[in-house]
Amino acid sequence: MTHHIDTSLVHIGSGAFDPETKTAAVSLPAVRTSTVRFESLDALEKIQAQRAQGKHVVTYGISGLDTHRALEEIFNTLEGGNYCVLSPSGLASIHLLFISLLKSGDHALVSDGIYGPMRTLDQDLLKGLGIEVSYFSPQYDDLVSLIRPNTKLVYVESPSSLLFEMLDIPAIGRVTKQHNIPLAVDNTWGSSHIYKPLALGADISLVAGTKYIAGHSDLLMGALITRRDDLAALMHRTQYAIGNAVSGDDVWLALRGVRTIAVRMPHHANSALTVCAFLVTQPHVTRIYHPAWPQDTGFALWQRDCSGSNGMLSVEFNCTAEKLKPVVNALTLFGIGFSWGGFESLVQWVSPTALKPHRAWQGQDHGVLRLHIGLESVDDLIADLKQALSLLNNS
Ligand SMILES: Cc1ncc(COP(=O)(O)O)c(C=O)c1O
Repeated sequence: MTHHIDTSLVHIGSGAFDPETKTAAVSLPAVRTSTVRFESLDALEKIQAQRAQGKHVVTYGISGLDTHRALEEIFNTLEGGNYCVLSPSGLASIHLLFISLLKSGDHALVSDGIYGPMRTLDQDLLKGLGIEVSYFSPQYDDLVSLIRPNTKLVYVESPSSLLFEMLDIPAIGRVTKQHNIPLAVDNTWGSSHIYKPLALGADISLVAGTKYIAGHSDLLMGALITRRDDLAALMHRTQYAIGNAVSGDDVWLALRGVRTIAVRMPHHANSALTVCAFLVTQPHVTRIYHPAWPQDTGFALWQRDCSGSNGMLSVEFNCTAEKLKPVVNALTLFGIGFSWGGFESLVQWVSPTALKPHRAWQGQDHGVLRLHIGLESVDDLIADLKQALSLLNNS
């Protein structure tokens, strides 16, 4: 019998029954280990041979044990993948993706609205390794004309960081397939639940589990999910080679968090829409960036490709970013911080420098605030926004 994904999410990754007592804990315990024991040298040799082929097998704690397998199974089930490679943060997954698939002399095309620290990784590390990265606008550039003979990866984020620009993943996937180039998608926004890049034509889905998977702002985690044996072998081999280990305790926390994603996400999403409806009534607001908001330019793609939304939105104002600083400081329920996907509301003052490389940005000298709408009462959040935005009337 096939079940709805929300049903599977509650039941998969549970521990097996003890053969003696015929009981099992509902919540799988965290298996912590640095090393494992082998029944015999024969068993060890067999596993080592599999490792040499890039198989995901356990010879040491770096590969994790039962708790890790349970979370990998959940990611695979949610994303429709066959292989999942965990990393100790989302950024570590991005790093792992690039160094697994690319070598010196290779080139990658990356969408220009990508998560900001990707550019730091590029400048501070990939460049030195001889891996060239160039950025493109999925909206304005012709991807085909940018592909070079040495292009070995196309990496995009949809919707984009900061402006939530929806990308046409099936259209991008058709191009990358024709040219036999792997397409990887940062699916942290969808967090494996409301957006399925692999089903839409991507080869790899990347998720910062730090956000909605964890849901409680208490851990860092990354995952790369794929259906392809060849890409999984490359990523598993590199993961082991660089010792990209994830703590059993963090995996356990992620397992506990992800069990409730199906109820948390719609709550964040509904509150975010209510906040959008309030914001558009405000005199200084010029535009809302939130793909589930009907006036958003990505709304049609969002309707076509996503099964839900979340609590992320950006707001553009008819004043400079500088003028928004007192507004940010006046907010009492929105913490000033970068991350998102936890239970709490957050505000990010968006630096104009961060928006510049994103060709979808048309607001020139307008200031932008990015909000994460948490699980607080939405009426309280709106009251807080109202009092803080009133400062703009006097400036
Ligand atoms: C879209 C996106 N991808 C990746 C990351 C990196 O995740 P982590 O903070 O776990 O390194 C973030 C973090 O903010 C993000 O927003």
